[in-house]
Amino acid sequence: MKELFPGVYTYENKLWTRNLVPGVSVYGEKLVKYGGTEYREWDPFRSKLAGAIKKQLKYFPFKKGSIVLYLGASTGTTISHLSDIITDGEIYGVELSKRMIMELAKLAEQRENIIPILADARVPEEYKDVGTVDILYQDVAQPDQIDIFLKNAKLFKPKWGMLALKTQSIDISKEPEEILESSLQPLREKFDILQTIKLDPYDKLHYFLVLKDKEGKTI
Ligand SMILES: C[S@@+](CC[C@H](N)C(=O)[O-])C[C@H]1O[C@@H](n2cnc3c(N)ncnc32)[C@H](O)[C@@H]1O
Repeated sequence: MKELFPGVYTYENKLWTRNLVPGVSVYGEKLVKYGGTEYREWDPFRSKLAGAIKKQLKYFPFKKGSIVLYLGASTGTTISHLSDIITDGEIYGVELSKRMIMELAKLAEQRENIIPILADARVPEEYKDVGTVDILYQDVAQPDQIDIFLKNAKLFKPKWGMLALKTQSIDISKEPEEILESSLQPLREKFDILQTIKLDPYDKLHYFLVLKDKEGKTI
């Protein structure tokens, strides 16, 4: 096992995280024991963050103790790996669908660092008690995904942003590159765009953006 980023490992050309709940596989992923520690395979075809790592992600702000606000939590596939990585930190997972949040709540029973929130990410005031976060992560595939991100950034003041951008959800009639460029424009006012990754072949429809709050700028 070679550590790529804090808490993220590579072995046999696959990605792994240390299993916080040994013996339990969350979404059918493989478990292996190595040097007395159990690891969970992190599937880049199921998780855009893992796909971004496979496509040469250069920045990985997650570490032990990180406070993360995750918009579009779904059933917690990616969140489960973040939970392995941040250990005694906190991940607030916002999800609109009741069916998904019930699955996430089951995961949170075993993993105390996951806090499920049933809410619309367009209305961050509903979960403003979360307070300031280190990282804002978003994967919601909505036409107004940039507005949603900026609204949440304004309230929760993250140092880092990670955004899975689905250009087709914004405008199917335009070229993905064109949508990408027009999406970056409003983000540039508040953030430096550190990296833009095309997730193909792991995900054919998304770009993955890494953003850093412009130092000293109040948002
Ligand atoms: C592509 S899935 C996310 C997958 C997840 N990020 C993962 O990697 O495990 C998108 C999710 O965003 C949720 N979603 C869409 N619009 C939302 C909104 N306005 N507020 C909160 N969640 C939303 C959907 O219900 C769906 O579960």
